Amino acid sequence: MSVVLQARHLTRHYDVSRGFFAQPAVVQALVDVSFDLRAGETLAVVGESGSGKSTLARLLTMIEEPTSGSLTIGGIDLAYATPQERKKLRSEVQIVFQNPYGSLNPRQTVGGALEEPLKINTDMSAADRAAAVASMMTRVGLRPEHATRYPHMFSGGQRQRIAIARSLMLRPKILVLDEPVSALDVSIRAQVLNLLADIQQEFGLAYVFISHDLSVVKHIADQVMVVYLGHAVEAGSAATLFAHPQHPYTQALLSATPVANPGAKKERIVLQGEMPSPFNPPSGCAFHPRCRAVLGRCSVDVPVLQDKDQRQVACWAVHA
Ligand SMILES: Nc1ncnc2c1ncn2[C@@H]1O[C@H](COP(=O)(O)OP(=O)(O)OP(=O)(O)O)[C@@H](O)[C@H]1O
Ligand SMILES: [Mg+2]
Repeated sequence: MSVVLQARHLTRHYDVSRGFFAQPAVVQALVDVSFDLRAGETLAVVGESGSGKSTLARLLTMIEEPTSGSLTIGGIDLAYATPQERKKLRSEVQIVFQNPYGSLNPRQTVGGALEEPLKINTDMSAADRAAAVASMMTRVGLRPEHATRYPHMFSGGQRQRIAIARSLMLRPKILVLDEPVSALDVSIRAQVLNLLADIQQEFGLAYVFISHDLSVVKHIADQVMVVYLGHAVEAGSAATLFAHPQHPYTQALLSATPVANPGAKKERIVLQGEMPSPFNPPSGCAFHPRCRAVLGRCSVDVPVLQDKDQRQVACWAVHA
């Protein structure tokens, strides 16, 4: 399958020095992240809070520029894209946020919200736009006659359907889903995940699906990248990672997810300590203070991703 998005050594730092006399301080929100996203496939990006997931989402959707590294979308390297190419790519890569309430204007009707991208980016007639809105509302499981309603008149799950519909209006090739079901009741989650799986098939979309919870991405992911403090620590096919996680962090994340068969024996690996501050990350492997497989060199040398059993792992213990 063709590669629709290629990330190479993507890095994003934030300057967070405060005050005139303060020491310059930099947060390394994302460090040296590389991956290929193929048409119709889902790459799941999984990690705890503060691991850099939303930073990655902002880079992929061109909301922010990387500090270094490159991003090639649809064969176009963003660093060399013309304004026209950027505009086109912006409509081809859309984002859905965790909280649709924040991304929908409370004073705009649902129909207005869905019509807006068409108004701005196409020369469709008003009648054609209205028809496109009605058809997309139906497609995501909303009633088209509700187009005149406002976001607060819908449930959380329906609002997320609205946000998904809006993201699809320009027929993008890539959707970046930043914790799309995390704010929803458990009972609603499966419905929205099923909708996402259906429209992926129908529209041939590639997904970057961001979640702090491995169990959420289990059924939708083709590829998985586990991130910790801005670094990818393990990456590979979902089947491989779920069956035989190698990095101690992936193992711990996976051990915390519920199993379908309650009778099955499963060791629960409790992660020690808190996620360290990204202002002052641990030396060597950022995960070493919490790692149960820690070796002497882990506090000294930064591990890089290397091939191991059909996936890539950044861990000295795994490669020892
Ligand atoms: N604009 C910014 N200025 C300064 N620091 C930032 C900025 N945006 C993000 N950060 C920092 O970068 C790190 C990564 O943040 P990010 O929001 O990408 O994490 P996340 O994985 O999405 O977390 P969560 O699961 O809580 O959404 C955090 O330490 C965060 O405080
Ligand atoms: Mg986030």
